[in-house]
Amino acid sequence: MVAARRKEMRAKFVIVSGSASQKLAMATAQRLGAEIGQCSVTRFPDTEVNVQLNEPVRERRVFIVQSSCPPVDQHIMEVLAIADACRRAAASSITWIAPYFGYARSDKRRGGRTPIMGRLVADFAERAGIDHLIALDLHSQQVEGFFHIPVENLSAVPAIADALKSHLEPESVIVSPDTGRVKMASAYASRMGCPVAVLHKERLNGRKTAVSRIVGEVRARPCVIIDDMISTGGTINNAVEALIRVGAAGNFIVAASHGVFTPEARKNLNHPAIRKIIVTDSIPVSSDDWPQVKIVSLAPILAGAIRRSIGGESMTDP
Ligand code: R5P
Repeated sequence: MVAARRKEMRAKFVIVSGSASQKLAMATAQRLGAEIGQCSVTRFPDTEVNVQLNEPVRERRVFIVQSSCPPVDQHIMEVLAIADACRRAAASSITWIAPYFGYARSDKRRGGRTPIMGRLVADFAERAGIDHLIALDLHSQQVEGFFHIPVENLSAVPAIADALKSHLEPESVIVSPDTGRVKMASAYASRMGCPVAVLHKERLNGRKTAVSRIVGEVRARPCVIIDDMISTGGTINNAVEALIRVGAAGNFIVAASHGVFTPEARKNLNHPAIRKIIVTDSIPVSSDDWPQVKIVSLAPILAGAIRRSIGGESMTDP
C-alpha cells in the first residue's frame, strides 16, 4: 500500500535540492510520504557547478527546495543549473521553493551606479525555466513584483508564534527593530495578544545600524524582538541596547524567520540579556553548541504548500 502510494507520488512530482537545503528538503519529502529525487550537485575542478539528474523528470512537476543562503551566489547558481537541467529534460513545471531568498534586501537602488540584485535573480530564475516561486517571509513584498511568474510568499510567523508561546512572560511587548517590520510585529502581536513597540533604525553602512527613537511602552516590560532575518546580529544587538537604555526588563527573546548568522553574529547575539533566539531551518543552523537557539522546522509548511500546489488548491485559504 505504502509502496503503491510512493510510486503514484513519484509519477506526479519530484522534490530535488542542491547543497543548501538538503535536510529540509528531505524532511519535507518525508512528510509527503515521498522520497527525495536523485540529483547530484558537485563542482568541477575549476569550481563550476556540475548538476546531473539521475532520474527522469519528463512530464513531472519538479520542486527545487533550496535557500539562496551563504554562499549566496553559489547556491543561486545551483538552482539555475538544476532548473535548466529539468527544463531541458521536459519537466512539466519547475517550482523553486526558496525557504530563504537571498538578495531580497537589494530591492531598490541604494544610490547612483548600484544594481537591484533581487530583480536580477528573478530574471535569471525565469530565464532558467522556473515557472513558480514559493518563498517564505520575503524581506519585502516588492520582490514579488520582480517576477512575472506566480509567487507565493508564505509566512513562518504562525509556526514561530506557536514556539514562542511557552517562553512568553506576562506583560510582554513585541518589538519591531525597524519600521519595515511593523506589519510582521503586528502579526505576532495579534496571535499572542501583546502590544507592539517600534524602533527607528538608521543604517550607517552594510554592517552598522543605530536606533534613534522608540515608539511604544517598553519600560519594565519583557520584550520579544522580532525580525525577518538576523544576518550580522547588529540590528538585534542595537535593539537590545536601546531597549535596556529606556528601562525594558532585562531578558529578551529574539525571533526571526531566517537565521543567516554571518560569522560575527554569534558575538553580537551573545548578549547576557538575550535568553532565547528562535529561528526556522530556512538556513541550516547548528544549535548543538548554542543552547539559546531554538529551531522551528519549516517542513510542515513546505509540505503543505507542495500538497496544495499539486492538488490545485489555494495557498491562502485555511
Ligand atoms: C533589515 O531591514 C532587515 O529586516 C534586518 O533587520 C537586517 O537585515 C538584519 O541584519 P543584521 O543582523 O546584519 O543587522
